[in-house]
Amino acid sequence: MNAQPIVGAASPYDVASVRRDFPILATTVRGKRLAFLDTAASSQRPLSVIEAVNHYERTSHANVHRGVYQLSQRATDAFEGARERVRRFLNAASIKEVVFTRGTTESINLVAQSWGRRLQPGDEILVTWMEHHANIVPWQMLCERTGAVLKVAPIDRQGELDLEGFKQLLSPRTRLAAFTQISNSLGTMLPIEDMVRAARAAGALTLIDGAQAVAHQRVDVQALDCDFYVFSSHKLYGPTGLGVLWAREAVLREMPPWQGGGDMIRTVSFTKTTYNDLPYRFEAGTPHISGAVGLAAAIDYLEGLGIERVHAHEQHLLQRATAALREVPGLTIIGEAARKGGVISFLLEGVHPHDLGTILDAEGVAIRAGHHCAMPVMEFFDVPATARASFGCYTDEADIEQLLSALATAREVFG
Ligand code: ALA
Repeated sequence: MNAQPIVGAASPYDVASVRRDFPILATTVRGKRLAFLDTAASSQRPLSVIEAVNHYERTSHANVHRGVYQLSQRATDAFEGARERVRRFLNAASIKEVVFTRGTTESINLVAQSWGRRLQPGDEILVTWMEHHANIVPWQMLCERTGAVLKVAPIDRQGELDLEGFKQLLSPRTRLAAFTQISNSLGTMLPIEDMVRAARAAGALTLIDGAQAVAHQRVDVQALDCDFYVFSSHKLYGPTGLGVLWAREAVLREMPPWQGGGDMIRTVSFTKTTYNDLPYRFEAGTPHISGAVGLAAAIDYLEGLGIERVHAHEQHLLQRATAALREVPGLTIIGEAARKGGVISFLLEGVHPHDLGTILDAEGVAIRAGHHCAMPVMEFFDVPATARASFGCYTDEADIEQLLSALATAREVFG
């Protein structure tokens, strides 16, 4: 396959130059060129992120919001600067709406444990059949605690959401509709604008799991009109162990704190403790300061590339790879929605996905094999697992070629 200019971009997307920004891509695996096709599990980091964290650690680290000395002030400025960077990235109205967490999973648990405390028996939470476990289990736990009921919107064999089915499950008892923007196991892009509109009309709040989307398309939380938006730094070319909960200020203001400890309080006494302002009320303990610095650098990096151009590049690769994989004898793609992100789940006849993952690894190709923390999706398609290739800003045609050639080897081995 020859490199094609991306239609609509001001200049061709220079993926070779992007790849040079990611030191890990120059490493070899088992003596082979690394074809990293597991960005949906965790993206790699560009040098600018690695260096931003390094610079912070070497020059500015101290605890934040506590010290009167200059170094602590510098660390606080870096941390709060990162919060402002996230605010601009999401087009949030205020930094009060940007809560740092450990990741998407913790962000959803925060909402379930804090906002969810108000639920009454018979209240309903609506999710979809293609959610990641992180957007299922916290709601199941909440339902067990409160007597609320979890409803599940259906999907079809293409891996599309049944939008009418979703709408039919909205009721006057629906308090929250929580759904993914892009399915991590199928790649489906959900019709989130329609879903938010329908949920709002039913009087429900909405939570969007943006873990698989935020690094691949422009997100504007005000335009989306949702109430909660959650994502992880490590899928956005930033450090692990850090995530974001964005919540509409009016909603966040009504939520009780969830974890108690330092920094989330204003005053503590044994007679009465009072809580800090937003967003600090939800950030007990010393935060992941260097992680936030790295996330800000990652956002700078991605916006520097141009998120629309990255999106176009990934869509181009998705089409090329999908067409090529369809030609592989015995290969079935699981999830053929009309609109997808850069994720392709597939099965190769006669080869268990885990064995396939091992064979591909020997060829330098890193894919994920398993249930992708989405066991209901596997149950729906009646498969124990799938192999999954996923793309990022640095994925190139050579990665796809390497995957195809490794699949040919796997077919020979299992022939
Ligand atoms: N949620 C991550 C994935 O889809 C880990 O692989």
